[in-house]
Amino acid sequence: MIKVLFVCLGNICRSPTAHGVMERKLAMAGLSNSVEVDSAGTAAWHIGKQPDIRSQETARKRDYDLSHLRARQAVAEDFIEFDYVLAMDNENLENLEALLQMVPVAEVKSKPELFLEAYSTPTLKAKGLTEVPDPYYGGDKGFEAVLDMIEEACDQLILDIKSNKKLKE
Ligand code: 4NP
Repeated sequence: MIKVLFVCLGNICRSPTAHGVMERKLAMAGLSNSVEVDSAGTAAWHIGKQPDIRSQETARKRDYDLSHLRARQAVAEDFIEFDYVLAMDNENLENLEALLQMVPVAEVKSKPELFLEAYSTPTLKAKGLTEVPDPYYGGDKGFEAVLDMIEEACDQLILDIKSNKKLKE
C-alpha cells in the first residue's frame, strides 16, 4: 500500500479538497486498492469538523464528494506511516519540517514536500504557482482556483505513483 497525506493549516479547505480529488482520480485510474489517501492540518482549531461548506460545494460541482472527511491534526508519526507528505504552502511546509525533527531519523519514511512544486506541470509553471493559497478569508473564486491547481497537481502525482516501485511489490 502506498500512503499519501495532504497537509494544510486547518484541514477544512485545501487538504480535504486534495483528499477528495485524489480519491476519485485514483478510483478512475484503478488504483484505489493500492493507494490510501488522508489529510491533516498543522493547526488544531477544526479537529473533528467537516470540510468548509464552500470547499464542499465547489468540489461537488465537479463531482467530488468531501462530506465523509473529518479534520485531524498532523502528528510526528505521519512521517513514519506515509510515503508522501504534501504541504499546500510554505508555512505548512515549515511547520511540518519542525514536526519532522521529533522523529528518529532511522524511522522517517518520507520528508514533507511542497505539493505544487514537487508535482508541477507546464500549466502550473507558466502561472508561477508553487503554493496553493489559503482561500478561507476570500470569495468563491479562491475556492475554484484552489480546485483547479489541485486537480492539475493530482494528475501529476498519479503519474509519479504509477512509476513508484512500491506499487509493483
Ligand atoms: P485550510 O484553510 O488551511 O485550507 O483548511 C484554513 C481554514 C481555517 C483557517 C485558516 C485557513 N482559520 O484561520 O481558521
